[in-house]
Amino acid sequence: MKEYNTLDDCNVENKTVLLRVDFNLPLDKKTFEILDTTRIKLVLPTIKELIEKNAKIVILAHQGRQGSWDFISMEKHAQALQDLIGTKVTFIDDIYGEKAKHAIQQINNKEIIFLDNVRKFSGETEKKSAQDHAKSDLVQHLYPLVDIFVNDAFAAAHRAQCSLIGFTAVLPSYAGRLMEKELSTLEKVVKNPEKPCLFLFGGAKFSDVIVTIDRVLAQNTADKVLLTGLPANAFLKAQGINLGEKNESALLEEGKPEQFNDINAVLKRFSEDIYLPEDFAIAEHETRKEITLEDLPTEHNLFDIGEKTIEKFIKILSTANTVFLSGPCGVFENSLFQKGTKKIFEFVAQSEAFTIVGGGHTVAAVEQLNLREKISHISSGGGSLEKFMMGEKLVVVEALKESKKKQVIKYS
Ligand code: 3PG
Ligand code: MG
Repeated sequence: MKEYNTLDDCNVENKTVLLRVDFNLPLDKKTFEILDTTRIKLVLPTIKELIEKNAKIVILAHQGRQGSWDFISMEKHAQALQDLIGTKVTFIDDIYGEKAKHAIQQINNKEIIFLDNVRKFSGETEKKSAQDHAKSDLVQHLYPLVDIFVNDAFAAAHRAQCSLIGFTAVLPSYAGRLMEKELSTLEKVVKNPEKPCLFLFGGAKFSDVIVTIDRVLAQNTADKVLLTGLPANAFLKAQGINLGEKNESALLEEGKPEQFNDINAVLKRFSEDIYLPEDFAIAEHETRKEITLEDLPTEHNLFDIGEKTIEKFIKILSTANTVFLSGPCGVFENSLFQKGTKKIFEFVAQSEAFTIVGGGHTVAAVEQLNLREKISHISSGGGSLEKFMMGEKLVVVEALKESKKKQVIKYS
């Protein structure tokens, strides 16, 4: 028995369902076109099920943050959903005003309306309890018009925001199919991973992963951690290796100097369990050239891991029964530097190990390498996934549990 309700616990026939999803997508900076629809695809089972069961569907989602360049309306998302699901999706350029309320009242069974970017409501991102968020204009205007709340926004499950938790205080609330799948799959990996369990971190950020590495090793979720990309560079620098000016300034652009002390503390605790690259690829005269640790410092950027590291990491990965991939091994968008990511990801995908992939860039790399079918679990989460893997509670999940415990029913 789950601590939260799922779609198995409710009858949605003829009901108006408010469905919160996370369609916060990567956009093209110039055209604002959507670059990747993975997060939409992952929610399709929930939406299809609601249609099949004769529900009326009202979708609520966010894109970007107030003030950020990618803070746009949900019109393109509604269109993308319509294209993927093959059913009409009506975009409403309103969140809880008369236009939105009228549209919700007019909706028929099996129809979908998509409300505007919920972060246009400035109370959305205030940090409050579910009870306090329930007093907001957003919740007070919308909840009388709907029967149940379904939350399928796993990728935003770490945010205590109004539309994510407020409705759980006043409406019977359920986890959608994606939320349910993410939680049950990831729970197994966090609590009881099939050992050995290896984590590979890469990508272009290191400041957030230091504490993640420390926690997953301390909790014994991970037995070994392999590092590539910026996390690897940061750990090498912390060990006193001079990477060259370009690489070191790239590190300081992303993180803070004091974080190298944090890394040293992690290295001290887990020196046996953390593996770092021994060679790298740089661009010289527009070709790929490999250099070793002894060649450092270099005036060039380290764009990929080298052959020796690929070989060594594959050998270590071949012992794993569970692998968690977070971040590409190099600048895989450039074909010269795709090798590390390609070889490592292909190896893991074809292996027998249970493989989890998370984070936008990692999922994009999997898509580009055509490995989607061979990955055991592609997570929609970025920040929420990281928090979950660290053993932290997710506020949205806690709100769903609370709603079940209190057996929240609708008063209107
Ligand atoms: C995400 O994309 O990580 C989630 O949608 C949360 O977005 P946020 O980091 O802007 O809160
Ligand atoms: Mg250990």
